[in-house]
Amino acid sequence: MAVLVTGGAGYIGSHMVWELLDHGEEVVVVDRLSTGFDWAVPDRAELVVGDIGDQALVEGVMKRRNVDAVIHFAGSIIVPESVADPLGYYLNNTVKSRALIESALRCGVKHFIFSSTAAVYGTPQKNPVTEDEPLQPESPYGTSKLMTEIMLRDTAAAHDFAYTALRYFNVSGADPKRRTGQSTKGATHLIKVACETATGKRPFMEVFGTDYPTPDGTCVRDYIHVSDLVNAHYLALQRLRSGGGSLIANCGYGRGYSVLEVIDAVKRVSGTDVKVVESGRRAGDAVAIVASAERCFSELGWKPVHDDLQEIVSDALRWEEILAKRNRV
Ligand code: UFG
Repeated sequence: MAVLVTGGAGYIGSHMVWELLDHGEEVVVVDRLSTGFDWAVPDRAELVVGDIGDQALVEGVMKRRNVDAVIHFAGSIIVPESVADPLGYYLNNTVKSRALIESALRCGVKHFIFSSTAAVYGTPQKNPVTEDEPLQPESPYGTSKLMTEIMLRDTAAAHDFAYTALRYFNVSGADPKRRTGQSTKGATHLIKVACETATGKRPFMEVFGTDYPTPDGTCVRDYIHVSDLVNAHYLALQRLRSGGGSLIANCGYGRGYSVLEVIDAVKRVSGTDVKVVESGRRAGDAVAIVASAERCFSELGWKPVHDDLQEIVSDALRWEEILAKRNRV
């Protein structure tokens, strides 16, 4: 029996693979390596290079490995790119998810964990955001993920099938054991960009907007360590396997940091000055978004152990140093 991890060669997916292996699970990854890396998949997991929309391939894997659960990370994740190429996002994130869900049904796979996003809320009316807040995505990215949530909801209502959709806030950091990290090329995420600047990969970084209605004028986000995030998925898997019903849950710590606070943490932990250029607001940025993670605590029994901005930054920095030494990315 194996767990199928789609996108397992990517940032969050590769951490998930390690989490599963650490718990003694058998793992098979399907990843087309468009943004992921084959070297990010541990040898103990099987890597099948291919597209999640290729139903013959995916169903072959599901049957051959006797897959009982799918953890679905594969997809496109850059908000501005989704605005420029909405149909590309609806294809990758929605149409191919539909194919994957159908493959799961055909192969009798009853458990499905889906990588959703805080982007389904758009700009929230209030913080912290609960799962019952209005769903008003402001980008094709957010809409493409919401559409998959809806397909899962309706599929679970019609069939012997249960899912967990985890809505991620700002995922960051890297495996504390240094086995994997965020290796994405051309990264746009704040902590990665700041760490690349601290380690000399970039000469400077921009701060997008310093005139927001927040204490220091910069946007506020809820940064969650990737290892705590993948542990929530593991708990969700256990819950589904023991008969738990479908669930939607936010994944964050319930605490916000501003852009400047994050950059200060990177300066402090790295002991280097991070050159910052103040730029105008970036289109589509919500002022502040912070999770209410109560459901993750109560339903999954989630107990985060890396809820510390310094630790997140320190792990992210270490990974940048490892990448620089390997001269890979
Ligand atoms: N930022 C900078 N400079 C940078 C990079 C980011 O100032 O070089 C700022 C952004 O403007 C924003 C904050 O840092 O205010 C966080 O930006 P990120 O790009 O790291 O993350 P986002 O909050 O934009 O994106 C996250 C997830 C997305 C998800 C979105 C939902 O990464 O997948 O939240 O709001 F869609």
